[in-house]
Amino acid sequence: MSGKSGSVVIEFRDVGLYLGGKEITQNVEFNVRKGEFVCVIGASGCGKTTLLRLVSGLYQPTTGSVHVDGKKVDGPSRDVAIVFQDYSRALLPWRTAAGNVSLALEAIGMPRAERADRIHALLGKVGLAQHAAKYPSQLSGGMQQRLQIARSLAQGASILLMDEPFGALDAMTRQSLQDEVLELAADTGATVLFVTHDLEEALYLGDRVVALYSNPGRIARIVDIPLTRPRNQLSTREEPDFLHLRRELFGLMEEIHA
Ligand SMILES: Nc1ncnc2c1ncn2[C@@H]1O[C@H](COP(=O)(O)OP(=O)(O)OP(=O)(O)O)[C@@H](O)[C@H]1O
Ligand SMILES: [Mg+2]
Repeated sequence: MSGKSGSVVIEFRDVGLYLGGKEITQNVEFNVRKGEFVCVIGASGCGKTTLLRLVSGLYQPTTGSVHVDGKKVDGPSRDVAIVFQDYSRALLPWRTAAGNVSLALEAIGMPRAERADRIHALLGKVGLAQHAAKYPSQLSGGMQQRLQIARSLAQGASILLMDEPFGALDAMTRQSLQDEVLELAADTGATVLFVTHDLEEALYLGDRVVALYSNPGRIARIVDIPLTRPRNQLSTREEPDFLHLRRELFGLMEEIHA
């Protein structure tokens, strides 16, 4: 068991998807519970992004169904936010950091008078309080990533879908953002579905890891990660359980790629 016993928030019920006549996913079935952090790993093209798109309502399953908070997904919802890898497309370049967060607050109809305080609090939460007046082009990749998270929180999303958000970052930035995301998830109680190529990242972050086969995308294994929290970049990665799971998942991925 994952150690989380909250209610089920995301449900994949025997999901199959065809796009352009091609079977993209097949018999995908798993649940994510409230506050759980679930990582999805698998080879390029196996359907990881597709799973996020199904949860966010950007794709409709051909067979089966996806449910969020018990409701069948039939379109985008404010409760679900995607943090993309491609920051350049995700943020409005002509709005400052504060302006980008403001946009989400405007969208939920928050009165102007209340926005400034909320923006300040949200930017503070992701460590960007000092950068409120900067434009996305003036922020580092990691900062743009955090700005996207602040915007997701502003939107009121309790479900964060993260699509290889740290793929393009250097190792040090990546590690500190991993810890920030874990802290944010713990603070906000958000439910996170996190896609990554990086097996160790998945183990470090997740309560569970869903490993996918390719062509079509389907579940190869779901692994519980019983490592204690809060996690620590040095000690967690040295825990016998971590090393054991790393070996097991590495073997599985080799099998999948063979
Ligand atoms: N709109 C579409 N029409 C047809 N095929 C699509 C469409 N979108 C995705 N695919 C195909 O679906 C498969 C899964 O794509 P997806 O983007 O989910 O993979 P991924 O696991 O996220 O890969 P990567 O790790 O490279 O990001 C791929 O074979 C892709 O070519
Ligand atoms: Mg992808």
